[in-house]
Amino acid sequence: MSTPLKSSFLLSYLCTLPPALLSREILMADSEALPSLAGDPVAVEALLRAVFGVVVDEAIQKGTSVSQKVCEWKEPEELKQLLDLELRSQGESQEQILERCRAVIRYSVKTGHPRFFNQLFSGLDPHALAGRIITESLNTSQYTYEIAPVFVLMEEEVLRKLRALVGWSSGDGIFCPGGSISNMYAVNLARYQRYPDCKQRGLRTLPPLALFTSKECHYSIQKGAAFLGLGTDSVRVVKADERGKMVPEDLERQIGMAEAEGAVPFLVSATSGTTVLGAFDPLEAIADVCQRHGLWLHVDAAWGGSVLLSQTHRHLLDGIQRADSVAWNPHKLLAAGLQCSALLLQDTSNLLKRCHGSQASYLFQQDKFYDVALDTGDKVVQCGRRVDCLKLWLMWKAQGDQGLERRIDQAFVLARYLVEEMKKREGFELVMEPEFVNVCFWFVPLTLRGKQESPDYHERLSK
Ligand SMILES: Cc1ncc(COP(=O)(O)O)c(C=O)c1O
Repeated sequence: MSTPLKSSFLLSYLCTLPPALLSREILMADSEALPSLAGDPVAVEALLRAVFGVVVDEAIQKGTSVSQKVCEWKEPEELKQLLDLELRSQGESQEQILERCRAVIRYSVKTGHPRFFNQLFSGLDPHALAGRIITESLNTSQYTYEIAPVFVLMEEEVLRKLRALVGWSSGDGIFCPGGSISNMYAVNLARYQRYPDCKQRGLRTLPPLALFTSKECHYSIQKGAAFLGLGTDSVRVVKADERGKMVPEDLERQIGMAEAEGAVPFLVSATSGTTVLGAFDPLEAIADVCQRHGLWLHVDAAWGGSVLLSQTHRHLLDGIQRADSVAWNPHKLLAAGLQCSALLLQDTSNLLKRCHGSQASYLFQQDKFYDVALDTGDKVVQCGRRVDCLKLWLMWKAQGDQGLERRIDQAFVLARYLVEEMKKREGFELVMEPEFVNVCFWFVPLTLRGKQESPDYHERLSK
């Protein structure tokens, strides 16, 4: 064993090492704990046990109890006072810190509460939460095998499983910080595949490009076009039918129009489970169009991807196996917890790494003592990357495919139940019969009932 090193010395010593040795030294060096923890280990343990107790009591037990509020709502000025947000030069006692933890939980929204209906995620899966707690406690980064050996292998396996559900026996992928970013990766990859020069030479090498998505798509497609320098004008908005599904004939028409205007079509982003209506675009027909025109097909299945787990409902995504890329957020319908979003690729040519890699020599040394293909960090535009696979993996281990399938099927059953109950009650107007778990409806107040014909009906109803 090497002699214990003071952490400050360890740091300056490491700075003198050649990069290839650095990684080995980090693994081997025996260092004392950081001073703040070394001060009083008993107090540290007591604090953390107390905090975990507060979390279990306040955030989990009370936070998921129907007898408690979803949120103790306060207006911003009052909340600022209650939280006493100012950061001061003097530190506070353990008791005060515990009280602060309680206040944070008290005034926060409990998204695991059975009556939390505000977003596309809710509920609390205990195994996923256990995974999140372990992830936070280990606080590692997903970029190299040496710093995340377990999670590099785990991510690979979880991605393989998700790809298999899409229908691919090989491919690539990565967990991204959310579905918006997964969508943006897809756009960047499609562009790079067609114009590899643009990585080095930038936008000046490109003709005007066009990408296509329906009017019901998620707004991240527009954001991505702006962020990637394509400009929002390059997004051609394809018609959706009355159920919110992209109209393939209009896609074909829009491609022709873009070409006539001198733009080069390169990508179609279809949506499986649109954000508002829960519509599934007709993937087979869209894939046919893409094939005819040689376009990259991306499927934004951030919301609806988890339906692939259900034998009963997976037909909604028929044709997804023909996509080049898929974005899938297990943090939404599967309740894996924020954040958990996979970008899946059919590609086996290392496109992700070729497109985003920059071979930083201090991190991705090529002479490591293991297969450096396990250093997945150069596939992404980030450096440090959160571990997002453990919560999903642990939940999947506990539930099995069958448990997760039951969960999806149950969500459909509950949506149907809600629809049937609405039909029995006065004052509820369904926007349409849902095919997914989005139930869109109007609540018609007493003063507006029976007044559908009046000219300001819709405006007043909206208000
Ligand atoms: C269809 C769809 N795609 C993408 C996203 C964006 O996902 P994220 O919030 O993880 O960025 C959403 C979010 O609601 C969505 O509904």
